Amino acid sequence: MVTLQEVKTLIMKKLLILSFVISTLVACERKYIEPFPKSPTVTKVSFSQDLQPLFNADCISCHSNGGYAPDLTTGASYNELLIGAPVNCNSYSSYINTLAPATSLLYIKLLPSPACDDMMPTGGSQWSPAKVQMVLDWIEQGTLNN
Ligand code: HEC
Repeated sequence: MVTLQEVKTLIMKKLLILSFVISTLVACERKYIEPFPKSPTVTKVSFSQDLQPLFNADCISCHSNGGYAPDLTTGASYNELLIGAPVNCNSYSSYINTLAPATSLLYIKLLPSPACDDMMPTGGSQWSPAKVQMVLDWIEQGTLNN
């Protein structure tokens, strides 16, 4: 036979557990409404300050007016990349695809075994991941003429 006292104790125990569970849930909820840490910000890439010097160093010996397309020399490079059409890799309709940046010909030609012919720079060494990423970031940031 369960005494009234025992029933009361049982109820108290259950209430204690319940209040513990509730306070834990509330604590969890608090955690989730705390502001999330800011995601690491990608540095803004400058076409003229960051990319053009890389083209000058590694690309324009072949990619200039009268050389292979695209002309990557200062003054010509931006328009050529944005409105020019690929000549060799002409299954691509443009050098840049802003809708799917990682499929841009300019970017994939810097990766080993690109879908069209050789990795750039021809005969040179592979660009560091940081340089290649800069090209992708510039496309993702809206191909600014900055
Ligand atoms: C030694 C000469 C040489 C250098 C240096 C060079 N390229 Fe090329 N590039 C070529 C040749 C040749 C082709 C055509 C064959 C091919 O697509 O692989 C080409 C093709 C390309 C294409 C595709 C062109 C098209 O119209 O289909 C792109 C984009 C490109 N290069 C970008 C670059 C970039 C960016 C650099 C610098 C990192 C670079 N190239 C350095 C010789 C070079």
